Amino acid sequence: MTFRRIVILTGAGVSAESGMGTFRDKGGIWTRHRLEDVATPEGFARNPDLVHAFYNTRRGALKAAQPNAAHLALARLQRHVEADGGDFMLVTQNVDNLHEKAGSTRVVHMHGELASALCAACGARGYWDKDLTGDSECWSCGAVGALRPDVVWFGEMPYGMDDIYRGLELADLFVSVGTSGEVYPAAGFVNEARLAGAHTIELNLEPSANVRIFSEGRYGPASEVVDAWVSDLIGAG
Ligand code: OAD
Repeated sequence: MTFRRIVILTGAGVSAESGMGTFRDKGGIWTRHRLEDVATPEGFARNPDLVHAFYNTRRGALKAAQPNAAHLALARLQRHVEADGGDFMLVTQNVDNLHEKAGSTRVVHMHGELASALCAACGARGYWDKDLTGDSECWSCGAVGALRPDVVWFGEMPYGMDDIYRGLELADLFVSVGTSGEVYPAAGFVNEARLAGAHTIELNLEPSANVRIFSEGRYGPASEVVDAWVSDLIGAG
């Protein structure tokens, strides 16, 4: 394999076949819920119970969800690249933990995580797999009612941006998997990688809004396309 510094960006499409749902497809999450109500700080201030219920349901669904062949293939690629002395960065917009369940390590969750809570009073972030309510107590400062889902809402700064841009500057391969390319800053990563001279590949169900920017694209369900692409790159082992 010729690539030594790989950055992968994943979106909801990689977890679609694990039952986690996508956002903008027909029947997607943003066709059933108003994102202004459940994915903005203003929505949370207006109706915290509604927002807690939305994320409690998704956090509950996560417990039964299993990684699919696409998650497993990306974990296999990471092991291969790192055993060979290369650099591998997996950045996900997803708030599920299916990459970790598949064996990926050091995953950058730029939009936060369902299984994490954030205290608005003291700033603590930590593992949280139960329901959150207006009565939940912060494990760190003891404040009651200040815990919120540790998910990045519209208008908030995503996590890990310095590390991500450093990775993109050095990348010789950038691959986007299962994302519509409609939400910035993630949608702009392909441009950063191109500027750095990286080869860029899109793996998606169908061509995304950014299709023309990529050097190459492969289309179909992630469980098939990602698995086949990884096997082509490193072999089936
Ligand atoms: P979208 O719902 O916008 O896009 C999902 C993409 O996955 C689309 O391009 C689909 O064609 C593709 N797709 C669907 N099923 C697939 C499958 N089985 N295999 C491969 N691809 C498939 O989701 P994201 O791009 O992840 O942010 O959305 C980005 C962000 O918008 C999310 O992280 C979330 C949302 O608002 C926040 O909540 C902050």
